[in-house]
Amino acid sequence: MNAPDPHASERRVSEPRDPADAPAPASPPAASARPPAAPERPPFPARIGDSLDQVDTPALMLDLDVFEANLAAVHGAVARAGLALRAHAKAHKCVEIARRQVAAGAVGLCCQKVGEAEIFVAAGIGDVLVSNQVIGASKLARLARLSHQARVGVCVDHPAQVAALAQAVRAAQGRVEVLIEVDVGGARCGVTSTAQVLELAHAVQAQAPYLALRGLQAYHGAAQHRRSPQARREAIAQACETAEAARQALLAAGLPCPVITGGGTGTYPQEAASGLYTEVQPGSYVLMDADYFANEPDPAAPVLRQALTVRCQVISERPGQVVLDGGLKAFAVDSGLPRPLAAGWRTASVSDEHLVMRHIAGETPVALGIGDRVEVVPGHCDPTVNLHDSLVVHRGGRVVDLWRIDARGALF
Ligand SMILES: Cc1ncc(COP(=O)(O)O)c(C=O)c1O
Repeated sequence: MNAPDPHASERRVSEPRDPADAPAPASPPAASARPPAAPERPPFPARIGDSLDQVDTPALMLDLDVFEANLAAVHGAVARAGLALRAHAKAHKCVEIARRQVAAGAVGLCCQKVGEAEIFVAAGIGDVLVSNQVIGASKLARLARLSHQARVGVCVDHPAQVAALAQAVRAAQGRVEVLIEVDVGGARCGVTSTAQVLELAHAVQAQAPYLALRGLQAYHGAAQHRRSPQARREAIAQACETAEAARQALLAAGLPCPVITGGGTGTYPQEAASGLYTEVQPGSYVLMDADYFANEPDPAAPVLRQALTVRCQVISERPGQVVLDGGLKAFAVDSGLPRPLAAGWRTASVSDEHLVMRHIAGETPVALGIGDRVEVVPGHCDPTVNLHDSLVVHRGGRVVDLWRIDARGALF
């Protein structure tokens, strides 16, 4: 008897004569043979009730006591001056913060992007000004649709914007309020003559009832960061002259100008005292950053403190130097390097995932080694917040809440 052909069955399987003889399709690999699913990343770097030493790093932190004090101080000062406060949400992009600003008396929010406005309106904010120019059919259609859910405003500085906006708002059968942006010294957006103000105002009026002229946007961003209070005062005095000329031109032509809005954390006391502005738009005041602290304080303004930090951990050490686990992906550096809150240490350099700190010459540095935690103040709060998914909210050394950065990345 011949020995059985060890390949016989293989040949049968690989060369069936009749399709009915074809082998059953190979069964899927056993679960254990599949590549393992990526483990789920924890949604937050901490849990409510954690001590600060249990917070994973790098984490965006909000000191709730300081946040509440800053909120009360600025809202109180603006209310005493008799103006409206429309908080700028581009600084924090966080629904929970927006709700607290409205609860503290804000008439509504400013947003810089339609996508931000959509998120805040969906969360129940009823009055949003997109304090910016909006271009493009898709964004304009979204803005027009939003006006069915909330009071919506937007800025213009060119007749083409008015025409495109009117088309979108008419198509949606909505109603959008329009502010003519005047360049009051920032040399960013804004018209530069009263003739342009009048041209735009007439163009807006011609689109009633879809568009309604609400007044002027007169924001001077550069003035916020002039270091001396005198320089900030002078810049806003100049801004007021330009805005007043635009307002007078509108009134002389029989056109309405119920609102003049602008100002931010660095200059709102000046706009508030001007007797001209009806509304201010501070944003950073609830968080603050190292660049704002480089301003000489205005004796007439309430003192604000640093509420926002990024908590980091030392991952490497050598004599005179430690390295933290947060770099360019945890801090924006457009307005200067982050500032560690560790006596005797300074930021020497920042790369993607690292912040190198060295001793400050002539100072006695606090001892730091592997695993130690350091709070770091970002140079600029707005783009730093936009790098993080959430805020770890703390009070009295404990995590008391976790707030999402809801509009993170809402760029269009
Ligand atoms: C139009 C406008 N209004 C208000 C603000 C708020 O400024 P801050 O966050 O410095 O208070 C900004 C910030 O860039 C802005 O662009």
